[in-house]
Amino acid sequence: MLERLEILFTEEQLRSKVKELAEQINRDYQGKELLVVGILRGAFVFMADLVRNLEMPVIIDFVAVSSYGDDTVSSGVVRILKDLDETITGKHVLLVEDIIDTGLTLKYLCKTLEARKPASLKVCTILDKPSRRKVEFTPDYNGFTIPDHFVVGYGLDCAQRYRNLPSIYILHQECQDISLTKGEAGCE
Ligand code: IMP
Ligand code: MG
Repeated sequence: MLERLEILFTEEQLRSKVKELAEQINRDYQGKELLVVGILRGAFVFMADLVRNLEMPVIIDFVAVSSYGDDTVSSGVVRILKDLDETITGKHVLLVEDIIDTGLTLKYLCKTLEARKPASLKVCTILDKPSRRKVEFTPDYNGFTIPDHFVVGYGLDCAQRYRNLPSIYILHQECQDISLTKGEAGCE
C-alpha cells in the first residue's frame, strides 16, 4: 500500500479558524463557566488549541467512544470506553470533536449526555463531512466543511498514525496488492 499526503489545511489556516471559532464561543458563553469535553483520541490537538483561546472559566474533561462495528452502523449504538469524570448536571457543556462523518457518534453521545440534564450541550468540530451522514446531525460550531476525503493530521489518524502532523492532509491510498482492502489497512 502506497500512501500519499496532499495538504488540505495549513497550520496558518487552522490557527485562524480556531481563533474565529473561539471568538464565537467567547461571545456565546460570556460570563458563564464552560465544561469542555474532548472526544478521544482525535480531538486532543484541536481542543488544546481551542481552549487556549477561550476567555471564560473553563473545566476540561474527556470521553472515549468506539463504534461496535457493522451491526451498529444501522442501530447507531456507540460504546463509551471512558466516561466523563465530571458530573454535567446543570453545567454548560461543549463537546469537542475532530470530524463528523456519519454523525452516529455524536448523535448517540449527545442523547446519552442530554439524559444527565446539563444546563446546555453544544458541539464544536474542526471538520465536517456532511455528504457521508447516516443520521441527521448539525454541529453548533464547525471549522471547515469538506468533501468525502479521508483526512489525517492535527489529531486525526489512519490506524493510529499521523495524529502528530501539524497540518491536515488528504490521505491517498494506492493499492499495489489487490488483496488489500481499505478496511484491512486499518482506516475507517
Ligand atoms: P461518525 O461521525 O460517527 O462516523 O464518526 C466520526 C469519527 O470517525 C471521528 O471522530 C473520527 O475518529 C473518524 N473519522 C471519520 N472520518 C475520518 C477521516 O477522514 N479521518 C480520520 N478519522 C475519521
Ligand atoms: Mg474520533
